[in-house]
Amino acid sequence: MHPEDIDRYPERATTGVNLSNGQTACLRPLSADDGDILGEYFLGLSKTTRGFYGPHPFDQATADNICGEIRHAETLRMLATIEQDGQEHIVAYFLVFFGILDGDRPRYDKLGIALDQDTDCTLAPSVADAYQNTGGGSLVMTHLISVLRRCGRKRVVLWGGVQECNERGVHFYKKFGFRKVGEFMSKINNYDMIADL
Ligand SMILES: CC(C)(COP(=O)(O)OP(=O)(O)OC[C@H]1O[C@@H](n2cnc3c(N)ncnc32)[C@H](O)[C@@H]1OP(=O)(O)O)[C@@H](O)C(=O)NCCC(=O)NCCS
Repeated sequence: MHPEDIDRYPERATTGVNLSNGQTACLRPLSADDGDILGEYFLGLSKTTRGFYGPHPFDQATADNICGEIRHAETLRMLATIEQDGQEHIVAYFLVFFGILDGDRPRYDKLGIALDQDTDCTLAPSVADAYQNTGGGSLVMTHLISVLRRCGRKRVVLWGGVQECNERGVHFYKKFGFRKVGEFMSKINNYDMIADL
């Protein structure tokens, strides 16, 4: 599968899973008509989660802009959604940039780790506060790894690293095979981590 296929055939990157609370979730790429539920997800994130997770602002305008120019072949935006009271809601939002971001690459250059724009990718995961630590993130990650492997990606690094104090995040990454390769300061200490896919 080529990353462009995700834009053309989103069903090929879609599956269903059972959450630990008994709910069924759909794991699927973001679509153009998701602006309202993406905004709802962004606005619902707690200060703590926003403190750990910052690939872009979390407001309705950002949600609308993202949905107005979806290009999964460049940045895959994988959702977990549930149905509640007859409405769909987002409970997880995982970003994968196909390649290495300009902001991350210099740190890997300094570490002497050669990254490949064509076969490496960059991850930024988030789960809604009420669904964190209940296994949902692991279900999304397992699905995402399978999609990325099918797209020919070989390695994944963290988008802006992970804060040293984010113990759950660090555990989560290690569980999926990430290893710490470096540390850097930006207000607080962060780890760079990389995993083979
Ligand atoms: C990090 C995140 C994506 C993980 O998703 P999740 O659904 O909460 O993760 P899961 O429930 O599948 O797994 C959490 C794991 O962390 C473990 N854990 C929970 N709290 C922990 C802590 N304080 N220290 C170490 N491990 C911890 C759990 O036991 C579980 O491990 P296990 O599967 O081996 O039992 C999610 O918690 C999140 O969105 N956090 C806020 C935003 C964030 O930190 N994003 C990453 C930025 S780099």
